[in-house]
Amino acid sequence: MKLLVQFLTIVAALAAEAEVASDGKVELHKPVGEDGEGLYTASTKGCFDVINAATPIVLDSIDKIELPTDRPLVIVDYGTADAGTSLGLMSKITDAARSRNSDLEISLQYEDQKDNEWKSVFNHALGYKTVTDAYGVELSSPYKGGANGVFVSACGVSFHEQAYPTGTVDFGMSFTAMHWLSSAPQGLVGRDELQAANCAASDSNCGSAEREQGASDFNKIITARAKELKKGGRMVIVNFSKSAEGHYLGKTERGVSMWDSFKSAWDRLAAEGMISEAERLAISFPSYYRSMKEVEEGAKTVENIKVVSVEEKVVRCPYNEAWVNGESQKAGRSARQHAEWFVPTTRTWSESTFKNALDDSRDKDAIMKRFWSNYVDIVEADPAVHHMDYVHSYLVLEKE
Ligand SMILES: C[S@@+](CC[C@H](N)C(=O)[O-])C[C@H]1O[C@@H](n2cnc3c(N)ncnc32)[C@H](O)[C@@H]1O
Ligand SMILES: *[C@@H]1O[C@H](CO)[C@@H](O)[C@H](O)[C@H]1NC(C)=O
Repeated sequence: MKLLVQFLTIVAALAAEAEVASDGKVELHKPVGEDGEGLYTASTKGCFDVINAATPIVLDSIDKIELPTDRPLVIVDYGTADAGTSLGLMSKITDAARSRNSDLEISLQYEDQKDNEWKSVFNHALGYKTVTDAYGVELSSPYKGGANGVFVSACGVSFHEQAYPTGTVDFGMSFTAMHWLSSAPQGLVGRDELQAANCAASDSNCGSAEREQGASDFNKIITARAKELKKGGRMVIVNFSKSAEGHYLGKTERGVSMWDSFKSAWDRLAAEGMISEAERLAISFPSYYRSMKEVEEGAKTVENIKVVSVEEKVVRCPYNEAWVNGESQKAGRSARQHAEWFVPTTRTWSESTFKNALDDSRDKDAIMKRFWSNYVDIVEADPAVHHMDYVHSYLVLEKE
């Protein structure tokens, strides 16, 4: 996520090399040269697009909540990463609230895990570093040294717990941060499906451990927010989901499912004798993409919480778009180079789960290298059909 707001030009991003660090995270290295300055990197675009898609819903809620008269308005961004992607929205929220009461003091609260990259949170939120969004627009923080009544604080308590005092949050939001389960049930080990979303709807045993863990985490997360919110306060949660049509991350109405490609690339390792049959079937992603119905019904079981609305939106994969609209080719990428550029965006978050399926006696890095090269082969054959489209539910809650 660090790289999200790094200022990379599109040309730089095209030439950037993805490297996997020892912790399995992929990092883009900023190459020299200022060609194309002001343009965006595809790696940041998806997250900015999701926040843009949520912006009208967020601003509508800011319009509807009662503004406090005897204390500051408290806004929380849960799972903020480096505070870069939500910075523009924070300014819009501040402006919207101030248009209703120009004297209002505002407390911007940034929440994430204790080991988050907090230094960047402060650099961005306090305005020491400018953030340039996916469209080349410079975003400035609404914080102006406290002189204008905007204050910035951070919290390192997990959102699985109550992170703020009871009844103190006016508005909370969370974007693409709550999708990992709090534990790894490993319910798909021994099966061909890699994750619960891949299960057929008719097979209720498949992924049931993940479904149950997802339900229990959801209840815990919403219960904690129900405590933190003040009466009449609102929360917007954007989380990966599975649509009624059966669409989810990397699998939409178009092209090839990313999960089918993962599967083919992994099965090829078995066919080549690099992994055993047990390892072939040992992948189990610790996530569960809830349907809108599950989201709504789950929220209804939490006391003092009302579901204002829940909708689904698809944000298109920027890497795929760059191939389909010819940008990638214009940047000089061959089909193979395009594949090598796209695949790391699927690798950053999935590598550890694949690695985990391998026996400890293996040279895991060598096998993973082969796996990713298999996936690159698959994408190279027809880049236009490979994507990691995002499917999210956009949930609005109100504390009663
Ligand atoms: C994919 S990033 C999204 C960042 C940002 N919200 C955006 O949309 O660009 C997910 C973030 O969620 C945070 N996160 C994951 N689990 C968390 C937890 N239990 N408590 C707080 N933050 C968490 C991660 O540390 C990471 O910064
Ligand atoms: C988001 O999805 C995860 C499952 O991957 C689930 O555990 C979590 O409770 C969901 N959170 C919300 C608020 O929808």
